[in-house]
Amino acid sequence: MCGIVGCALRRRASDIIYGGLKQLEYRGYDSAGIATLSKGQISIVKKQGKVSALENCASDLDGNIGIGHTRWATHGKPSDANAHPFAAGKFAIVHNGIIENCLELKREFLSDSPFSSDTDSEVIVRLLDKYYDGNLLTTLKKVCSLLSGSYAIAVICADFEGIAAAKFKSPIIVGSGADGNFAASDAPALAGLCRDISVLEDNDFALITSDGIKIFDGDLNEVFRPVRPNLATPANLELGGCPFYMLKEIREAPYAVANTCAVFHTAEGEVKKLCKNINRIILTGCGTAYNSGLVAKRYIEQFARIPCEAEIAGEFRYKNPIVGGNTLVVAISQSGETADTVEAARLAKSANAKVIAVTNAPYSQLNSVADVVIPVAAGPEICVAATKSYAGQIAALYLLAGVLAGKDLTDDLQKISEPCKNTVENTDISAVADMCARSSGVYFLGRDIDYAVALEGSLKLKEVSYIPSEGYPAGELKHGTLALIDESAVAVVVITSERLAGKSKNAVEQVLSRKGKVAVITCINSIAEEFKDRAVIIKIPDCGEYLSPLVSSSALQLIAYETALLLNRDPDKPRNLAKSVTVE
Ligand code: M6R
Repeated sequence: MCGIVGCALRRRASDIIYGGLKQLEYRGYDSAGIATLSKGQISIVKKQGKVSALENCASDLDGNIGIGHTRWATHGKPSDANAHPFAAGKFAIVHNGIIENCLELKREFLSDSPFSSDTDSEVIVRLLDKYYDGNLLTTLKKVCSLLSGSYAIAVICADFEGIAAAKFKSPIIVGSGADGNFAASDAPALAGLCRDISVLEDNDFALITSDGIKIFDGDLNEVFRPVRPNLATPANLELGGCPFYMLKEIREAPYAVANTCAVFHTAEGEVKKLCKNINRIILTGCGTAYNSGLVAKRYIEQFARIPCEAEIAGEFRYKNPIVGGNTLVVAISQSGETADTVEAARLAKSANAKVIAVTNAPYSQLNSVADVVIPVAAGPEICVAATKSYAGQIAALYLLAGVLAGKDLTDDLQKISEPCKNTVENTDISAVADMCARSSGVYFLGRDIDYAVALEGSLKLKEVSYIPSEGYPAGELKHGTLALIDESAVAVVVITSERLAGKSKNAVEQVLSRKGKVAVITCINSIAEEFKDRAVIIKIPDCGEYLSPLVSSSALQLIAYETALLLNRDPDKPRNLAKSVTVE
């Protein structure tokens, strides 16, 4: 959510900043802007819309020093005026985060300042201008001490041949490359520019010039932050021949599972130690990550027989949860930066619970909060809709279930690779996508683990196609939701368990008898046979009850993707959304 880039180079900066912003566009695409510094003069271009709106004007900017921003609007609608950077006096800034006390700051310190936007971020530059004492770093520290909320800030100042950065609760990395030195919200912005990066910690500041990077703690003591390899490379950010990242990433799910399995040994010993004497488990996350927790709850309880709940992180953190020393809280997050999930993990730690992070981002904030990290090795996920990371999370949580149950489940996961590949490469989804694209609403139904997957199918479809959709337990349909079914409605019914097939098929009959259209996703031959003339059948491989989500979810993701294309939506950048939600 909002991406920032800054650099101090030995060459012109604007095209490098533009390229970095393109790589961060998954964090927001409501507006974009760049400011550069040349001979003490700051120049700015900014525009509503995607980063490409800057393509023609970015090259007008002179200077080797600059900052850039791609925005996901929180305070103030998407517009040119609300686009970053903001300037005042000798300063220009870009910001990712939320300044929660911006109204108080405006009232108390800035009542005579001429604000040009409706954003919370503009207070930062107004305060810098007001309190500037000739020293960029000490002024930035003073201003940050007034801010409540979260911030990753990059600043240029007419008096300083470089950029300054500050971090609290929103991410910033820094790195050095052949052309100079950089700061950014995330590693993809520095792919091909920096082989190594360092991650700033909360309350850190940095001064970045073309000669080097200095990092300071909250008391402005110079500090060292570990240097780690930049895992984002130009090669792993390419589309690989696919028209959209969403399709590429759906197809990469089998590799996400295999790679997650391959790296599990790095965590296994610590997980075993941490999980001794656990008598209760809470899986928490947001959106798709929460949905993967709903799937995992099923197999963790079955294998380990430990009571397990899945909780939405934004709810968990505000409900005064009952957790203690024998509770294991598993915080699941692709980005490891989702504010609600990070705070839920912090809360659990402060209540003495054991905390495991399951993330696809090795240097993320969530990792630094957790006692142990189980890595999801899905590789960079660019599409806003989570796909391969969901598969990786399900695999990582399956392996955790194995540890909790005292079983090695790696073989099960290795066997799944072929069926997964088959599903993502060969499933013909076009008839279902066509039905969905013409419908008034799509209802995803299932029982038990299929219900957990139905919720994810529904989230994916609404996110990328904007068609109203609900995920529902198949048995609950007749208790209210059936009232929504008519000839314009579609039900997608997931049936992968022999045990429950006889029950789930009632839902198919109930929808058909109300003239709704039905697609059945199943691995069960008798179900496919029974409905082949009355419903569209998507046949998937049989992977056993607990791993079926790895194939059924791929089919559902493909439905969402193809429906979005039929409706001319951009599946990689759904309206109003951003990938990592670093604010509440
Ligand atoms: O990075 P996270 O996994 O913590 O993100 C959580 C949700 O914001 C995310 O899964 C969101 O629901 C996806 N866009 C859904 O496709």
